[in-house]
Amino acid sequence: MTVTAPKARLIDGKAVAADLRAEVAQGVEAFKKRHGIAPGLAVVLVGNDPASEVYVRNKGRQTREVGMNSVEDRLPAETTEAALLDKVAALNADPTIHGILVQLPLPGHIDERRVIEAITPEKDVDGFHPINVGRLSSGEKALVPCTPSGCIILAKSVATDLSGREAVIVGRSNIVGKPLAQLLLRENCTVTIAHSRTRDLPQVVRRADIVCAAVGRPEMVRGDWIMPGAIVIDVGINRVPAGEPGKTRLVGDVAFDEAVQVAGAITPVPGGVGPMTIACLLQNTLAAACAAHDDADRLRPAPGQAPRSGQPS
Ligand code: GUN
Repeated sequence: MTVTAPKARLIDGKAVAADLRAEVAQGVEAFKKRHGIAPGLAVVLVGNDPASEVYVRNKGRQTREVGMNSVEDRLPAETTEAALLDKVAALNADPTIHGILVQLPLPGHIDERRVIEAITPEKDVDGFHPINVGRLSSGEKALVPCTPSGCIILAKSVATDLSGREAVIVGRSNIVGKPLAQLLLRENCTVTIAHSRTRDLPQVVRRADIVCAAVGRPEMVRGDWIMPGAIVIDVGINRVPAGEPGKTRLVGDVAFDEAVQVAGAITPVPGGVGPMTIACLLQNTLAAACAAHDDADRLRPAPGQAPRSGQPS
C-alpha cells in the first residue's frame, strides 16, 4: 500500500483562536483602564442538556481568562417562557452586562425566536436578533454570529485577500450558512449557498476556490468534489461510531482524508472552526462593551465588517 503525504496546509483553529483571545485580553485590559469596569458576559442555560453544560462551562472559563466578568444563570428545565423573558429583561437593564447569550436549544415549551427577539440588539453577542441579521445584510455595523466570523478569520489566515474568489457554502442555516454568505460577500467573494435541493452538488462545489461545509452530515463532501488548491472550511462536528463497539469519534462534514490530498488548505475536525466560536463570542462582547461606552471607534472592525463608507456594487 502506498501512503501519500497530505498535500493541504492544515489550518490550526486552536492556535488562531488563542491569538484572538490574547488580542481580546489586551482590549479588555485597555477597556478596564478607560472605564474602571470589566466587560460583562451573561450566559443563560435552561435545563441540563449535557452538551450545553460543556459549552457553558467552557464559555465561562474562557471569559474569565480574558479578564471579563462572567455571569452564569442556570435555570431549571421547567422554567416558563415568561420567567425566562423576565430574566432577559433584567439582564438588558443591567449596566454591568454588555453581552447576553441564551444557550440553545431551549426546552420545547419555550419559543426560541421570542426569547432571541427579547434580547436588546446591542447586547446580542450571538448576532441572532433580527436587527443584527438585517444590519449585517445591509452592510451596517452589526454583532455578527460567531461561527461564521470564525470561518472568515480562518480563511484569511491562509489567504489575506479573498476578493474575487468563488465561494460555495453547503448549508443554509440561519446560524451559519446565511450569515457566512453575507460575510463572504463583504470580502468581495462570488457566493453560492448550496443546500439539500441543489442539483448536482458535487459539480457546484467543484467550482469553488473556497468551500464551507455546514450541513451537519458526516463526511458528505468528498475529496473529488474539491477543486485542487481550494480552501476548505469544515463547520461540521458529527459524532460517529468508531471502529470498536461503543466507541465514537468526531468527524466533519468533509471527508478529511480525501480532501486533504486535494485542497490547498483545510480545517481539521476537531481543532478547526470549533475553537473559534468562543473566541469570536469574546470579541463580540468586547465590541458590545466598547459600543456601550461610546468608544467603538477604538475597535478594529470585526472580520468582514464593511468600512463605514459602504461598499462598491
Ligand atoms: N448552542 C450551540 N451553539 C450555540 C451558540 O453559538 N449560541 C447559542 N446561543 N447557543 C448555542
